[in-house]
Amino acid sequence: MGIAIPTLCNYRGIEPLGACRVCIVEIETPRGPKQVASCSYPVENNMRVATDTQDIRDNRRTILELLLAQAPGSKKLADFAAKYGVTSTSFKKTPINAANSSCILCGLCVRICNDLMGRGAIGMFGRGAGREVRPAYGELTDQCQVCGACSFVCPTGAIDLKRVATRPVKQHITAYNQFLDARPNIDMAHPQAVPRVPVIDRENCLHFKTGECGLCSKVCGAGAIDYDQEAITVDLDVGAVLLTPGFRAFDPVRRIEFGSAFDKKRACQHPVRAAPFSGRSYQRPRAPAFGRDYAEAYCVYPVRRVS
Ligand code: SF4
Ligand code: SF4
Ligand code: FES
Repeated sequence: MGIAIPTLCNYRGIEPLGACRVCIVEIETPRGPKQVASCSYPVENNMRVATDTQDIRDNRRTILELLLAQAPGSKKLADFAAKYGVTSTSFKKTPINAANSSCILCGLCVRICNDLMGRGAIGMFGRGAGREVRPAYGELTDQCQVCGACSFVCPTGAIDLKRVATRPVKQHITAYNQFLDARPNIDMAHPQAVPRVPVIDRENCLHFKTGECGLCSKVCGAGAIDYDQEAITVDLDVGAVLLTPGFRAFDPVRRIEFGSAFDKKRACQHPVRAAPFSGRSYQRPRAPAFGRDYAEAYCVYPVRRVS
């Protein structure tokens, strides 16, 4: 509808809880106007809703100030509040989660781990000032499959999986891009893919491995996720076919003088492009692994001199 309402503790595909209150709106009731959390309030016929009155803006600012005082360690929350004009708090800074000054105890991480991932690896424990999010008994747990969902949805960046899981936290690196980049489990097969649609990496997707999650199908507005889809062979009537058979990976260890033994990112056959230059400028690399003379003598790529 094009109406933006800020949210922190709400994520599409998960039952709302109404914990943070930054999504307040004003509804008309027989007893007069009333401010409610829009993420969890049930919609009714003929409902009149105001989303951006002065009253709402003032109350939202107060709520954000309160949250800033409750989670003074969260830069992500501070950036979020700044978008709504709140850059400081008049409340006394007292972390609501004594063990983690970035957490607002909204419970979104716990809900996604329980309801969507079916793991229950973390929960809310303790009372009052001692309330915190952690694994049971505060010990690392093998219940956590390090899927990263809790950390992904946490609105304040408060999750540190090294304090949750016994398993090592690893980036998802695949054969795509020669094991150089991390990528999601649903992505384009490669940048020039035809048709240009994302595909699911079935070997690594948690839904295919455990039957849990399925978040992408819940949040995809176009309803485009079909887990039952199978690979099919299609006969096409075409005039010409352009074959791009790819390349055979070069083993950089054979040319150790290019610095491949020291830094995988520089293990490229192109001395200048492999080096860390910025943006699209083809300026001389600041620190080529193999020395400037070598780069000048052997590189066929146009290098603009910088004084
Ligand atoms: S860790 Fe993040 S998602 Fe979990 S309760 Fe705290 S603020 Fe909410
Ligand atoms: S990373 Fe671990 S704690 Fe977080 S949602 Fe996944 S299983 Fe749960
Ligand atoms: S987003 Fe609605 S209460 Fe937090």
